[in-house]
Amino acid sequence: MNSAAIYGVGSYVPRETLTNEYFTRTLDTSDEWITSRTGIKERRKAAPDQATSDLCLQAARAALKDAGVTAQDLDLILVGTITPDHPTPSAACLLQQKLGLGAKPFGVFDLSAACSGFLYCLSTATAYIQAGMATRVLVVGAETLSRVVDWSDRRTCILFGDGAGAVVMGPARADGPSHTILSTRIFADGQHARLISIPAGGSAQPATRATCDEKLHYIRLDGREVFRFGVTKAVEMIEEAMARHNLKAADVGAIIPHQANIRIIEAAIERLELPPELFITNLRSYGNTSSASVPLALDEAHRAGRLPPGKPVIMLGFGAGMTWASAVVQW
Ligand code: ACO
Repeated sequence: MNSAAIYGVGSYVPRETLTNEYFTRTLDTSDEWITSRTGIKERRKAAPDQATSDLCLQAARAALKDAGVTAQDLDLILVGTITPDHPTPSAACLLQQKLGLGAKPFGVFDLSAACSGFLYCLSTATAYIQAGMATRVLVVGAETLSRVVDWSDRRTCILFGDGAGAVVMGPARADGPSHTILSTRIFADGQHARLISIPAGGSAQPATRATCDEKLHYIRLDGREVFRFGVTKAVEMIEEAMARHNLKAADVGAIIPHQANIRIIEAAIERLELPPELFITNLRSYGNTSSASVPLALDEAHRAGRLPPGKPVIMLGFGAGMTWASAVVQW
């Protein structure tokens, strides 16, 4: 069986920044409330002519460059997203075309696992590479959540942002950067499907004038329950990943959690009694970008030199479904 590895990382965020002050102009909220309850100060918003595949394209180009791989080398593309450009075709097909690969047929698909989407894709890519079914895989996590939030709902719109992160993967190699995947895990529990949803726009409630009037095409969430779920799963996944690889705190290079709420991360740190400096956070600048959150933070940490070479990096995500997933990568 081949070992799978990450060759390169890249990310992209749209130019427009919405600060907390922006929301105070239209909603009954404050910078103080948003900062103290979430840790978020600003988030990015895609331009009107940008859809998810456009964000994917920019992140993909950066990851390919970092990996020293050309788009022509790819033989599989996976996009984790809950905000594809259209219900069909997939964002992955549009990305394939935008990368100029339309005339080179190979497998590409979207995967819907919300905030766990990138790690679900990473796990799938690992399996394809280990089985010898793919040799150069582009994995992207990307969202334009600004298109599915109710801008008049102060409980949700302040939480989310747009962005994309990507990695290029293949069999572990000696002739270039190669960060070996030590293990991945994916989980779901559909019993909690109601905690986060976009009720309409699918086959259960197709778009009608009434569904639009009732704002059923926007994200709804039970914030308190999701908060509890996030803390529980973050603690479980970190403990399990450390036990699986027999790691003590001093052995871990970094921990990259899903960037949902700084209080979820702080609660996990307290329960685990781990050094806070191990944890990579950037939600202050980008909010919750769902599938893009982990690869965006991974890319920033990689470029900032915060991932010590040779040490295991633990990544974890949790979100709608409910889903949760983790990966341990030797950096
Ligand atoms: N500004 C001011 N007041 C607000 C705001 C706001 N932006 N939002 C809510 N409030 C008010 C509420 O109306 C409520 O007022 P009330 O008591 O008069 O009814 C009060 O603040 C407390 O509201 P809570 O919802 O209890 O606040 P809480 O401390 O739980 O924080 C939050 C809410 C930030 C949403 C938190 O629960 C959270 O982060 N949950 C996790 C959300 C998350 O991570 N989602 C990610 C998954 S999304 C995905 O997978 C796609």
